[in-house]
Amino acid sequence: MLLRSAIKRAIENAQQQGKLPFCVVATAGTTTTGNIDPLQDINAIAREYDLWFHVDAAYGGALIFSEAQRSRLAGIEHADSITFNPQKWLYVAKTCAMVLFRDMSALTNAFRVSAPYMRDTEGFINLGEISVQGTRHADVLKLWLSLYHIGKSGYAQLIEESYRLTEYFTRLVRKRPFLELASSPEMNIVCFRGVPPWIPEARWDQWNTDLQEYLLREGNVFLSLPTYRGHYWLRAVLLNPYLEEEIIDQLFELVDRFAQETI
Ligand SMILES: Cc1ncc(COP(=O)(O)O)c(C=O)c1O
Repeated sequence: MLLRSAIKRAIENAQQQGKLPFCVVATAGTTTTGNIDPLQDINAIAREYDLWFHVDAAYGGALIFSEAQRSRLAGIEHADSITFNPQKWLYVAKTCAMVLFRDMSALTNAFRVSAPYMRDTEGFINLGEISVQGTRHADVLKLWLSLYHIGKSGYAQLIEESYRLTEYFTRLVRKRPFLELASSPEMNIVCFRGVPPWIPEARWDQWNTDLQEYLLREGNVFLSLPTYRGHYWLRAVLLNPYLEEEIIDQLFELVDRFAQETI
């Protein structure tokens, strides 16, 4: 509800300043914390103000392959356009990224520039004419082969297993009072940080930076260190299909050892 009124306020403020808002972009899920915007609500606002509704599902679009998790994307079916990157949660080698349009004619009407040296093709859209890049790799071949090889049920299994491990990981964060979560994870990204009460708050960013280096040095584990709400956080992406609970246990043993050493 808060988000709804914030978006409405942003649109109306822009209109009052003589600006012309034309699009609302929702994210599923966000890069730092892996959260999913309320797509149904945001779509309703886009409709109310007659704006284009885009969903950046570069990361989370893969959930559509899991019957157990796809309801998290409810509302995405109303999008006018969707970003989706199979190079993320579909494990396709990069680059493999796309934008999907509900109505292809909006794209062709706006962008199509015919090249005089290309023959017109009936019933076939030359993507080179409606995007920035003319000549391109056949990136879709990797996607087609992966879908063919892994299949919907294979992807569902991979996605559901990473949810199971995310829950496991999150439980271990919650069990430690000197750690805090940035948000409740909704995908396979866990964003958390140390808030050790024995260290002055002004030094928590440094403590987390040191922990990140310690985990890499001592455990060969890489957590990224994004800035979020003005502070450094640790971000685990539980994407590797070879990840096991045992590796997560080892990571938290190192976290505990580091914390102990700083008391
Ligand atoms: C939500 C989201 N959108 C877009 C991107 C960028 O995608 P690309 O590398 O295709 O520009 C990322 C990459 O991390 C992302 O997480």
